[in-house]
Amino acid sequence: MHKPVSGFSKMSKQDKIDWLARTYFSNNTEAINILRQYWNSDTKLQQLHDDFTENAVSNYYLPFGIAPNFLINDRLYTIPMVIEESSVVAAASNAAKFWLNKGGFHAEVFSTEKNGQIHLDYFGEKNVLFDFFQTIKPRLFDSVSEIEKNMKKRGGGLKDIELIDSSGSLDGYFQLHCTFNTRDAMGANFINSCLETIATTLEEECLGYEPFLKNSQPPKVVLSILSNYVPECLVKAWVSCPVSALLKDATDAKVFAQDFVRAVEIANTEIRRAVTHNKGIMNGVDAVVVATGNDFRAVEAGVHAYASRSGAYASLTKATIENEEFRFSIEIPLALGTVGGLTSLHPMVKFALQLLHKPSAEELMQIVAVAGLAQNFAAIRSLVTTGIQKGHMKMHLMNILNQLEATSEEKEKAVRHFVKNTVSHSAAVEFIKKLRA
Ligand code: MEV
Repeated sequence: MHKPVSGFSKMSKQDKIDWLARTYFSNNTEAINILRQYWNSDTKLQQLHDDFTENAVSNYYLPFGIAPNFLINDRLYTIPMVIEESSVVAAASNAAKFWLNKGGFHAEVFSTEKNGQIHLDYFGEKNVLFDFFQTIKPRLFDSVSEIEKNMKKRGGGLKDIELIDSSGSLDGYFQLHCTFNTRDAMGANFINSCLETIATTLEEECLGYEPFLKNSQPPKVVLSILSNYVPECLVKAWVSCPVSALLKDATDAKVFAQDFVRAVEIANTEIRRAVTHNKGIMNGVDAVVVATGNDFRAVEAGVHAYASRSGAYASLTKATIENEEFRFSIEIPLALGTVGGLTSLHPMVKFALQLLHKPSAEELMQIVAVAGLAQNFAAIRSLVTTGIQKGHMKMHLMNILNQLEATSEEKEKAVRHFVKNTVSHSAAVEFIKKLRA
């Protein structure tokens, strides 16, 4: 085991790399070259990326894929997707094409409220705390007026502050539940700055409040932070068509629709299936969230919590057949931004937003929800018919060929061969072996 390193963050980029090479690669120049080969030759662009995070030593590429032909609310979109899983973009494109001549996707934003809490400890008289809160509430609002200035100009800001008694769940636990409108910004910094200022103001106001001095200890701020659970920032997307339009043959179409609905019912009943079902949805959601420079960890955490809102983790999508009409929908909470953060810094993010017609945050919520729904449609369509491996392995073939260091000519021959033959790792190895013999 090597010794702990001290002052790492203060070392130069080269010293950091040298330390890594010395410590983990016996000073191997090949290891250093791996890092260097991903540096951008444009030093300004490289510096921009280095500045995104502490201790950056290189860049980590992910493919930027394109899924065209998404008709959403009668407007055509070309959706950028950043994802390493080979079949995801193909699945999205197939689903887009499938729904293109069936009215496309529809989407609607229900609400865009974000929230954060100041979590308090308080063991005194409840009435005293509630009276105190009513007295200081206007001052709490005043305290963020400077921070809010720009956000207010754009029609956003702090909407409300509510004192909630949560002592029934945890002894002495109260919270200030604050709600915000952050317009087209994800707003994390804005919300957290507001919360910390409100918390400081609350503590200051406690000092001079007589009843606390007389009767009980004042409330103590434990922590203040936004919540990534945003069920009031909700979007819905759906597709629908007559069952008979799902497949050429009417009987096949009926069986397909019934199997499809059954698959969603199973995901609604069995957590083991629900998690994988929702993972497939997040393949689409995350890919667009990352491409547009948004925080996919926040989205993931919030969406999965929403999937458990009934107390049992369940499917995020619904499928029904009513009066011979097939309907498939998704409802998810999404706190997204199209201004601020990476959106104005990362050239690829700017490019992605341009592709999406420079959307507002609400429009982006709709696009992302559609990407999730499309992904789930493609997955279930494969699962209840051919299974996913056929398509998946076809897409994965290129990865196997790259592992085998196949030449372009070998790749071309392999792709042709596997149009009619089942792809597996061993079959690909065998094929290349024969070619080379
Ligand atoms: C794979 O990344 C996603 C699927 O497993 C989703 C699903 O099972 O619904 C295909």
